[in-house]
Amino acid sequence: MKEIEIIKPDDWHVHFRDNEILKAVVPETTRHFVRSIVMPNLIPPILNARQAIEYKKRIKKAIPAKDSFEPLMTIYLTEKTNKNELKDAYNSGAVFAVKLYPAGATTNSESGVKDIKKVMPVLEAMAKIGMPILIHGEVTDKEIDIFDREKVFIDQKLDFICKELPELKVTLEHITTKEATEYVKEGNKNLVASITPHHLALNRNAIFVGGIRPHNYCLPILKRETHRQALIKVAMSSNPKFFLGSDTAPHLKKYKESDCGCAGVFNTTYCMQILAQIFENHNCLSNLENFTSINGANHYKVNINKQKIKIIRKNKPIKFEDKLKINDEEILIFTPDFPVYWEVIT
Ligand code: DOR
Ligand code: ZN
Repeated sequence: MKEIEIIKPDDWHVHFRDNEILKAVVPETTRHFVRSIVMPNLIPPILNARQAIEYKKRIKKAIPAKDSFEPLMTIYLTEKTNKNELKDAYNSGAVFAVKLYPAGATTNSESGVKDIKKVMPVLEAMAKIGMPILIHGEVTDKEIDIFDREKVFIDQKLDFICKELPELKVTLEHITTKEATEYVKEGNKNLVASITPHHLALNRNAIFVGGIRPHNYCLPILKRETHRQALIKVAMSSNPKFFLGSDTAPHLKKYKESDCGCAGVFNTTYCMQILAQIFENHNCLSNLENFTSINGANHYKVNINKQKIKIIRKNKPIKFEDKLKINDEEILIFTPDFPVYWEVIT
């Protein structure tokens, strides 16, 4: 039996939702992670410090007593966001970062940004105080092929932001393409990227295995195998610009399996086990800790966690529970199509 001990990880991109779903999903994250950046795309969205503080209280109530966990709160950027309020929210410690959704790009993004130029004064103010911007990097033009939307965003929007504001701390969230890996690698030191376990585990064929697979539908959409390979390469490389942001995104099963199914993969439950398996499959287990527990903390200038976790390799593949019950409803838990031998001991 093989075992590794690593610094207890952080997840730099989660969706906790609210109410009954929040209560059910928060413990799934707090079991293995010390901190998470919590996304603000609720209905209505989290637009200011007061709402972030209230939301944080609701999250804290759902954390099991045995877990010590810190939710790091975000504000949803709109074309009306007030830069002075944002500065106060950041300086008071109530808010950790700002999320930029291009309007219409994904779940609950309707109030997002239509014209990047309109938010440049806010981004400039953020650059001055060191407040991070977290970007969903896809254009929303319907005529742009869905598989090209990340690349076009980089060319048309991200490059503009990074050139105008090289001091701005930018996370290009949940990257999915070779072009994104290259742009981030070559970009200035303040530009980093998060990567999800499902984009490391699956390519776009997974959406169409023997029929349509709504539970593998997420945004940005899964890409070709060559892109997955590029993500694997940077995630395994220990390059400090790349780190885990699971984008765990719970939706009730009935809303995934519908004639207009929601985008999102609920992956937090087995996230660390799946990552351990992928890193082992590429002979890179020794780099797992950098990806899950060090690179993100260094970018966000927060301390590295003191706690440790053990990940143990079993002799047989793990039998996963694939549903999380929520009253009479359920959410499907992401399990990959390859065997996973690793188990987490906290
Ligand atoms: O697949 C996704 N689901 N991508 C996102 O960007 C948002 C998320 C959600 O909130 O459901
Ligand atoms: Zn997300």
